[in-house]
Amino acid sequence: MPVIIPGANSAKLSGRVAQILGCALIKVERKNFPDADQYVRLTGKIDRADAFVLGSTWPNQDSALFELMLLADAAIMSGAKTVSAIIPYMSYSRQDKRFLDGEPLSLDVVIRALKSSGISSILTVDSHFMRAGGKIVTREGVKITNVSAYPLLMKKVTSMVGRPVIIAPDRSMEAPLKEFGEVLVIEKSRDRMTGAVSAVEKGYPVEGADVIFVDDMISAGGTMVKAAAILSKSKPSSMTACCAHGLFVDGADGKMKEAGMARIVSTDTIESAYSEVSVASVIAEAMVEE
Ligand code: R5P
Repeated sequence: MPVIIPGANSAKLSGRVAQILGCALIKVERKNFPDADQYVRLTGKIDRADAFVLGSTWPNQDSALFELMLLADAAIMSGAKTVSAIIPYMSYSRQDKRFLDGEPLSLDVVIRALKSSGISSILTVDSHFMRAGGKIVTREGVKITNVSAYPLLMKKVTSMVGRPVIIAPDRSMEAPLKEFGEVLVIEKSRDRMTGAVSAVEKGYPVEGADVIFVDDMISAGGTMVKAAAILSKSKPSSMTACCAHGLFVDGADGKMKEAGMARIVSTDTIESAYSEVSVASVIAEAMVEE
């Protein structure tokens, strides 16, 4: 039987996954020293089990990443047979290539760091760098499996409204959403220096419909606010913003509501007041398949 070692950001989700699988949830003692160095200690039995450290790396992405590394090392020292990471929301996934000269390839730096702490494979959910499709990829010598929350998310949000119309708030979301029906696409672009979002203004055939914007993540909300501003001109009956990963930085949820979003729905890859869909079953299934 595997054991699950919960990261600080995913205590509830770890509990849900452990409950589905009926496997042990290892208790973690954690504290910060006065200088903020992190301390963790596993207090459960690991023996020769396959250990899974489970933690999203938001909020506090850098310390959350480092915590996963400490937990992995502690698992190895405690006799784990293998250590894998389950990182439902994986920060730095958007820097999966070098967009401008002089930039690092941040995602690969993260993967190498995790590997160096003994993590041999990674399971993640709707990671930005896998949005073009595919379930398994090897990066930096580490097998990464990407599972999707979209089937559960789409089931939930489409059941909440009468006449759903799916909108991809940028072109990259068209492919992951295609299996759920017709997808209308907003042509969005982002200024790489300022981060400002712009999009092609045009009309959409959504009068009287319940528009559902679906993105992999909502961070500062600029994408959704822009999408709402454009679509509201076509007189939909309601607008819903949904995503796999709801970071909601800097009051993004308030800004989206002001822009006309009647509902905001996300999963529990990051716990928030909007986490109406749990990815626990998707993760548990993938762990069994591994
Ligand atoms: C970008 O390509 C992503 O898919 C999201 O659209 C983006 O990260 C959302 O960020 P924000 O909420 O800050 O616009």
